[in-house]
Amino acid sequence: MATSTASTISEAPPGRIALSEPEISGNEWKYVKECLDTGWVSSAGAFVERFEKSVAAYTGAREAVSTVNGTSALHVSMVALGVEPGDEVVVPAVTFVAPVNAVKYCGGEPVFMDCDPDTLCMDTAKLAAFLKNECSRGKDGFTYNRATKRRVKAVVPVHVFGHPARLDELLDACQGKNIEIIEDATESLGAEFMGKKTGTFGAAGCFSFNGNKIITTGGGGMVVTDDRALAARLRHLTTQAKTDAFEYEHDEVGYNYRLTNIQAALGVAQMERLEEFVSAKRRNAESYRRLLKESAGLMWEEPWARSNFWHCTIKAGEERRGPLIRHLTESGIQVRPLWKPVHLLPMYRGCQAYRMENAEAAYRSCLNIPSGVALKSEEIERVAGEINSVLRAE
Ligand SMILES: Cc1ncc(COP(=O)(O)O)c(C=O)c1O
Repeated sequence: MATSTASTISEAPPGRIALSEPEISGNEWKYVKECLDTGWVSSAGAFVERFEKSVAAYTGAREAVSTVNGTSALHVSMVALGVEPGDEVVVPAVTFVAPVNAVKYCGGEPVFMDCDPDTLCMDTAKLAAFLKNECSRGKDGFTYNRATKRRVKAVVPVHVFGHPARLDELLDACQGKNIEIIEDATESLGAEFMGKKTGTFGAAGCFSFNGNKIITTGGGGMVVTDDRALAARLRHLTTQAKTDAFEYEHDEVGYNYRLTNIQAALGVAQMERLEEFVSAKRRNAESYRRLLKESAGLMWEEPWARSNFWHCTIKAGEERRGPLIRHLTESGIQVRPLWKPVHLLPMYRGCQAYRMENAEAAYRSCLNIPSGVALKSEEIERVAGEINSVLRAE
């Protein structure tokens, strides 16, 4: 269906090929109608629980707590896991800005980590070097950045475009340092690291159901965790920290972060088709692999990973990126550059950026190409043909 969200997807007139569009052709109407017919439209209702249970079951997490969006999932996870004003949180430079903003919402300070050029995810060898060489264990058992004297409270790996970060090395690097791992798995629902679903490696894993994600609820998010006490705290914080609904008792500053039943109804219907969507995305990637010239630099999954190929990315090189963007855009094919590395954005320019050697080159070299679930094989052929034509003309 050709619906779109203004911030993420452009309207695609006939003949245009969009980057990604939601696929809404299952039980969505039926379940939403059920909400409207019964009056269960707000943040309580059977679909909320069903949606949470279905994401928990799919990822293999014990608990899932839904939220209004992925950003709030990240924010409330940081609050619940004790990120306090003045704490440092290690974040990747190559990411959508949301997890970094969430650190700031807590009054924390981001420390930017470089990307691994093969996956675009956080460089875990550099993370290990940072924690080993630049940080020390304090008497209180926490890890402190020696240069800033600040506590390093958490690390937030982002599974960029659906490819998992090197989670074994990341867990090793943080082992015994009293550092929380909060996975930004917003783009990677369905992806696996060594056979285990992303989002289930840290204390908390956060998903987004924004209109451009592999499944959508219009807007929405979810935190998964194996820690039942953490899940209870997340539920408490996301419902305004209410202790008595009748008397309006609240025991701390909470948030109105709960998903509505209508959105959850969409989510339940979308979850019914998630595996089908992952297969479609993986098929898109396989087709591009077959069709694209090697010099297009299609990024592929590592042997230890199962990417959901939420977005297919080509690393065509700095000189080719501009001509490719121009030609594809003129041909009615929507493409997207990589996010500008976050440490270069004005509000984060003063923050520590550790051994930043690859992030800017990746930004100048990479391009996301159409990767929607409903892409037809002729459309993929057309995209690949146009890319190859630019490369041939060199
Ligand atoms: C890496 C990353 N983190 C966080 C988010 C935030 O999710 P949301 O837009 O649902 O708040 C997004 C997507 O939008 C994202 O791509």
